[in-house]
Amino acid sequence: MNANAAAWAARSRAAVWHPCTQMKQHEHVPLVPIARASGSWLYDVDGRRYLDAVGSWWVNLFGHANPRINAAIAAQLRELEHVMLAGFTHRPVVELSERLAALAPPGLAHAFYGSDGASATEIALKMSFHYWRQQGERGKDRYVRLEGGYHGETVGALSVTDVALFRDAYAPLLRMHPVLPSPAVHDAPDAKAAQRATDDALAALDRFLAAHASTTAALIVEPLVQGARGMAMYSPRYLAQARALTARHGVHLIADEIMTGFGRTGTLFACEQAAITPDFLCLSKGITGGYLPLSCVLTTDTVYGAFYDDDVTRGFLHSHSYTGNALACVAALAVLDIFHDDDVVAANRLTAQRWRDMAEPLARHRRVRAFRHCGMIVAFDVDGADRGFARHFAGEALRRELVLRPIGRTVYFMPPYTTSDDEFALLVERTCEVLDAS
Ligand SMILES: Cc1ncc(COP(=O)(O)O)c(C=O)c1O
Repeated sequence: MNANAAAWAARSRAAVWHPCTQMKQHEHVPLVPIARASGSWLYDVDGRRYLDAVGSWWVNLFGHANPRINAAIAAQLRELEHVMLAGFTHRPVVELSERLAALAPPGLAHAFYGSDGASATEIALKMSFHYWRQQGERGKDRYVRLEGGYHGETVGALSVTDVALFRDAYAPLLRMHPVLPSPAVHDAPDAKAAQRATDDALAALDRFLAAHASTTAALIVEPLVQGARGMAMYSPRYLAQARALTARHGVHLIADEIMTGFGRTGTLFACEQAAITPDFLCLSKGITGGYLPLSCVLTTDTVYGAFYDDDVTRGFLHSHSYTGNALACVAALAVLDIFHDDDVVAANRLTAQRWRDMAEPLARHRRVRAFRHCGMIVAFDVDGADRGFARHFAGEALRRELVLRPIGRTVYFMPPYTTSDDEFALLVERTCEVLDAS
């Protein structure tokens, strides 16, 4: 690192409290000051490049500095940057809401906006609870969640998250919502074992709902892939059955597609693979192609109707200052244009297969276990990973121009969809080198 980069890193350490970080570690591991980015590459202030193999925390779909998204935001800047959405509306938010409703599973015609993923989780949780209250069901004051689930880190979202590392310090603040077995088992020895895990998880859900539906507002799940658990993948059969069971027992289903939405799992939304409509669909991350914070909760006529009243206090009195920000909405519209114009979901089907084939050296690597993929996500576990593995691996990867952030012993790839075959080949080759070296 030269003096310029070192100076930025030092100033950042002094002034910026970085997210999800033990800041003391940066006494030894330098922060990387990024000056610009293009396509799949980030460039630091010294001109060194890094392949963004995690899509900048799972947000980037079509590469950095994408000319079409840039142009859409630049054009919107000349018209309207932002207006509060209470009492006002604007073209981008109306068009985005209409288009999301048309693309989402049928029956989700009402869009409520937030900023980050966690705010979408909060909105869905509050709406579900409040819906039941409006119906006179005052006992439905808790949620049920899955083992290893992750839904964000604000206090409400954390209360339905099951990741000890993020939860434990705040445990006294958090409501202990019941946790059910997850259908996801990436170390299942064979297909039969995976099937059994799905059956067991469904049986547990059925038993739980039979006993506790009257006190449960909603089941919250990450459809098909539990990302923060370590890209733990599961069958659409669980989702389909979970939808049927929750509907039968009068419990909402909240589908948190904050990570899985916008094509990550191979379909535009993961729920499509189970042919279900949840009561709430939470979206964020890829919604703006990784440009601007925006989240959205789509819900049904039934839920919307329960809040529609002459009485103000029966409304959903929730807001964020930047709700429905016009610049974020045009970025999202540009993302939907790209999906449409380039037939991205169909193109990704081929890309996903190529990526799977190209990753074969990793699948066969002596240290790799539980190699798995789902749509545009590739993941595997590493044998012999000790406590410091993730940090060490990330450092070695960075030295080889790769941005990788293992979760525990799980290494995963979630690069922009526009990543070329040459770039993906380089990613595989250098990841093999890191595995050999670490
Ligand atoms: C499934 C899921 N839900 C919620 C969140 C929280 O989103 P945010 O970090 O934007 O608050 C994440 C973030 O990784 C996520 O993967």
